[in-house]
Amino acid sequence: MKNQVIVLDFGGQYTQLIARRVREEKVYCQVLSGDATVEEIKKAVDPVQGDVPAAIIFSGGPDSVYIPTAVLPDKGIFELGVPILGICYGMQAMAKVLGGRVIAGTESGGREYGPAEFTVKESSGILKGLGGRFRVIMSHGDAVETPPPGFDVLGSTEKTPVAAMGDPARRFYGVQFHPEVKHTENGRDILGNFLFHAAGMTPDWTTSQFIESSVARIRATVGDAKVISGVSGGVDSTVATVLVHKAVGDNLHCVLVDHGLLRKDEAKYVVASLAKLGIKVNLVNAQDRFLNALKGVTDPEKKRKIIGEEFIRVFEEEARKFGDIEYFVQGTIYPDVIESGSRLRAVIKSHHNVGGLPERMHLKLIEPIRELFKDEVRLVGRELGLPAEFINRHPFPGPGLGVRVLGEVTRDKLDTLREAQAILDEEIRAAGLYEKLWQAFCVIPGVRTVGVMGDSRTFGHLIAIRAVESEDAMTAHWAKLPYDLLERVSSRIVNEVQDVNRVVLDITSKPPSTIEWE
Ligand code: XMP
Repeated sequence: MKNQVIVLDFGGQYTQLIARRVREEKVYCQVLSGDATVEEIKKAVDPVQGDVPAAIIFSGGPDSVYIPTAVLPDKGIFELGVPILGICYGMQAMAKVLGGRVIAGTESGGREYGPAEFTVKESSGILKGLGGRFRVIMSHGDAVETPPPGFDVLGSTEKTPVAAMGDPARRFYGVQFHPEVKHTENGRDILGNFLFHAAGMTPDWTTSQFIESSVARIRATVGDAKVISGVSGGVDSTVATVLVHKAVGDNLHCVLVDHGLLRKDEAKYVVASLAKLGIKVNLVNAQDRFLNALKGVTDPEKKRKIIGEEFIRVFEEEARKFGDIEYFVQGTIYPDVIESGSRLRAVIKSHHNVGGLPERMHLKLIEPIRELFKDEVRLVGRELGLPAEFINRHPFPGPGLGVRVLGEVTRDKLDTLREAQAILDEEIRAAGLYEKLWQAFCVIPGVRTVGVMGDSRTFGHLIAIRAVESEDAMTAHWAKLPYDLLERVSSRIVNEVQDVNRVVLDITSKPPSTIEWE
């Protein structure tokens, strides 16, 4: 069985989508940088799957293939005997390397951005079973003018005579349009034809297979070395940790640093949940340390920095107790990889939840879920035996409630916030809305306002509610929670949480706001 696809990323905006679509077809898929060498590609293939991938897809990209600095695929890739699909820039790169001619859109008058009508010339290869005309999404300036020797033109649009090409003997195909986007008609069939017809794969990738091969891979990499993992209760770090535990057992040491910025009963809950899976967590109570370090600090960035640095110190102290550790488990997932940038991609945002800890401690990283999307991580978590309630928890930031207590972080404000958050969670779950929301949380701005309770004047805390819907946290819409739910939450918070006399709702989206307040 050889069912692993490698997507080479030339920096296109849809690379992530290509990988996703392939996985939706139940085929395992990994993304490598477009300048990956044949050796790197071979190394990325799961040994269970063979020596070479079952197919390779070249993504789109912003460059022109004919400029001297353009990144082109390693020539040796075409000699592997593996079917290749080039998409947009990927098709042009294929044409260029194999001896075709690519010209600028200005030269051909062929620039196309948006929908175009595609006409099938040959219903074969990736276009098997398709005919006539259908709508495709284009986004290109340059175009293939002459396909390389051995290629036939499979279809065209008005402005792009070579909109699809194929060499059936070598099983190389190219499409100028984007089959991975939903608005391209028959896009799924085209990818399916490539995977199952041209490359002869079978749709049998499952989460249990993923677990099996990733456990085998971790075992082969780590051997008898010691591994450390910092768990936070987040889904990603937990799933990564459980996978590593399955592979190395007691050679894994789990640490949960309770910095005092966790949600109500969170530390207990995480320890108990992992204990059920046979994983022992060393809970370090560092609450006083963090609160002392945060005393008097109001600047949000400074607060984050202090929390990060203190975390490293505590973690290092704990790690030393375990002796010689070689590896560090990190719950990086695929969107983090994209955001942090591949070699050919502009860095949008660098992720440093663990603040450079592995480098400082000279630890090697194990990132068992770096190819997965959030929903796939959740499926793997379920399969590993984590309860649904745990798996579906909302994301929680590394610096914890430290970014939700605005201004100085004090124990009082943290306790108030924890109580309010617990009520919000309870009501949102009771209303059946928890899983529909990306996040729902309370913020304590530290502002006091005047109120009246009984017959007395109060001067209590203000609590803000933030609830958002989002796909990936890059953008988010404020959630239009039902009024009766909001009423219950507000009433319970002012009645049950000491020193709070006002509740407000955040009605801004991201952008222009961020999800967290600090
Ligand atoms: P923002 O506030 O940037 O948040 O819109 C986007 C998503 O990231 C989470 N977040 C963090 N997660 N460490 C994390 O692990 C952090 O420092 C951090 N800051 C924000 C936030 O909860 C939201 O889901």
